[in-house]
Amino acid sequence: MRGAPVVATTRGDLDAALAAGRAKGRSVGLVPTMGALHDGHLALVERARQLADLVVVSIFVNPTQFGAGEDLDRYPRTFDSDLEQLAQVGVDVVFHPAVAEMYPDGADGPGVTVDPGPLGAELEGVVRPTHFRGVLTVVAKLFGLVRPDVAVFGEKDYQQLVLIKQMARTLCLPVVVEGCPTVREVDGLALSSRNRYLDGPQRQLAVALSRALDAGADAGPSGTVAVLEAARKTLGEVDGVDVDYLTLRAPDLSDPVPGREARLLVAARVGSTRLIDNVAVSLGAEEDS
Ligand code: PAJ
Repeated sequence: MRGAPVVATTRGDLDAALAAGRAKGRSVGLVPTMGALHDGHLALVERARQLADLVVVSIFVNPTQFGAGEDLDRYPRTFDSDLEQLAQVGVDVVFHPAVAEMYPDGADGPGVTVDPGPLGAELEGVVRPTHFRGVLTVVAKLFGLVRPDVAVFGEKDYQQLVLIKQMARTLCLPVVVEGCPTVREVDGLALSSRNRYLDGPQRQLAVALSRALDAGADAGPSGTVAVLEAARKTLGEVDGVDVDYLTLRAPDLSDPVPGREARLLVAARVGSTRLIDNVAVSLGAEEDS
């Protein structure tokens, strides 16, 4: 069993914490997070433990991926309880840098950023035009600092996972990017740090997202139109769930192909809280007429 994790706040601390393991040829797995940890994050840690000898979890609320008017200031920061949870599941290093460590020139100072390309402007990118530039930039920095052999991300943020895979491939980064299935509450709601913003009645409404995705997935054999109709019908029955998008895509988020695996994605606002979710769909071979 591992002891309590080493907490590193600088590149120097990180290097020192990983030096002995690296010298022995141990592989390193990274799980990037913004903290406020829940069982979804812990499932990624478990996966990283299976894939690598040493596990680093980063906790950093990345300012550059929040747009003006988003929840950067009120984003939950629960470092002590995060650390307790990570000590229980067993991780080697918790990397918890200050903003100045990650952005030496300031978070909005001049600097090189990672351009997510056209996919960064779709889906989440329509409402959050600078979001994925911020995500990819910080993830590239974390890859540079931690130099992981493997990095684990959740399918919960499906577009983010696809873009990080594309970044690693396109920029020839020496890291394997691994996706992990979404962890859900018993009623189907995907775990999210933002679920704590929901009051009781909103929490009841929020389950409509996963219900709609399930209905869509069940209609998969009947084709794309049936999938979208089934999902839309379930969402349409619920007042108070304001849909931003509901769309069926191929697993790489290009257009879906009949007879193949696809991905059904939804974003909706419940009160002032924006929720996203997605599910795999097996599409029937015949396109419905
Ligand atoms: P955060 O929202 O903290 O999520 C960290 C990781 O946990 C992401 O890979 C996310 O997809 C995964 N995750 C969240 N909820 C999950 C669930 N219910 N089941 C499985 N995995 C889940 O995503 C970010 O932080 C940031 O954008 C980050 C990648 C850390 C860059 O700042």
